[in-house]
Amino acid sequence: MESLIGLVNRIQRACTVLGDHGGEGSSLPTLWEALPSVAVVGGQSSGKSSVLESIVGRDFLPRGSGIVTRRPLVLQLHKTDEGQNEYGEFLHAPRKRFNDFASIRKEIQDETDRITGKSKHISNIPIHLSIYSPHVVNLTLIDLPGMTKVAVEGQPDSIVGDIENMVRSYVEKPNCIILAISPANQDIATSDAIKLAREVDPSGERTFGVLTKLDLMDKGTNALDVLEGRSYRLQHPWVGIVNRSQADINKNVDMIVARRKEREYFSTSPEYGHLASKMGSEYLATLLSRHLESVIRARIPSILSLINKTVNELEEELNRIGRPIGVDSGAQLYTILEMCRAFDRVFKEHLDGGRPGGDR
Ligand code: GDP
Ligand code: NA
Ligand code: MG
Repeated sequence: MESLIGLVNRIQRACTVLGDHGGEGSSLPTLWEALPSVAVVGGQSSGKSSVLESIVGRDFLPRGSGIVTRRPLVLQLHKTDEGQNEYGEFLHAPRKRFNDFASIRKEIQDETDRITGKSKHISNIPIHLSIYSPHVVNLTLIDLPGMTKVAVEGQPDSIVGDIENMVRSYVEKPNCIILAISPANQDIATSDAIKLAREVDPSGERTFGVLTKLDLMDKGTNALDVLEGRSYRLQHPWVGIVNRSQADINKNVDMIVARRKEREYFSTSPEYGHLASKMGSEYLATLLSRHLESVIRARIPSILSLINKTVNELEEELNRIGRPIGVDSGAQLYTILEMCRAFDRVFKEHLDGGRPGGDR
């Protein structure tokens, strides 16, 4: 059976492609919003890109100084069978397989510029990237521009507020799971990610706190107050991370090697040894994947009723314009309708085949 996360990925892609049909009052945008997703938020240089790359186990995100992420990146990870080749696929170039991760990085950059031009401004229009690999867990993450306090040269002054508004538009949705990234070498009270999470999710039920740069803390200090939930309490446990340093990146330290070094860091750490099994990027990926799946499972009934509403609307629309002939908008509506019916079937299989209660 297709994984629930994979299934939700397909609906999200369909809603995006067909977004044009979702006029006022249409169910399609509502359906998109009803689907749970994980948004990565944090201040500039807090380690967002590094955490994402570590979760994927590959080096593929554009880097540099200034605001590098200027469009949301919807990153859909699909776990494939052992021995399969890893590749990426963009929604805007559906028939092209990217086997080389350096070319994925370049395509993200080019596609960002295609919309934002040389202005270095930001755009709300997401880039959709799917990665198929035996080394990932099923998971969808949305990378967002880092929050910043000042515009740099060449960027409009409005960019600071525009970024905050964009990030907020994602995290304020009740179905958004917030991956709040804060660096350990800064006071948690000043973390942009925690400030925003506190505002939109005061009870902390949909926020996962991630503390990066543990290796960069001043000698003689440690992050136990944060990691053990005393500094800022969340419903889910905090996860500490050690990403590659800039020197590691310059030396091209392999991501898989970096993951191993991170495991060693925790298992041999005098301060964090007792937490080692619940720290690190691999643990974070598994935690998020399980959580996302259980949230989706709990929402199956409401997702199904939205799909049915969409099916009804599409049927009415098709009745009005008559049966589709050839490649026109009618034919496209017909395709969506068929897709929704297929989703309906597979979701029901999950309901029947799912364990009682659904949660783990
Ligand atoms: P972003 O702007 O939030 O996407 O941050 P990046 O992931 O690009 O990281 C910014 C810089 O911090 C890079 O030079 C990273 O190598 C470095 N960095 C991120 N996380 C860590 C960490 O856990 N330890 C160390 N030593 N450096 C880190
Ligand atoms: Na921050
Ligand atoms: Mg980044």
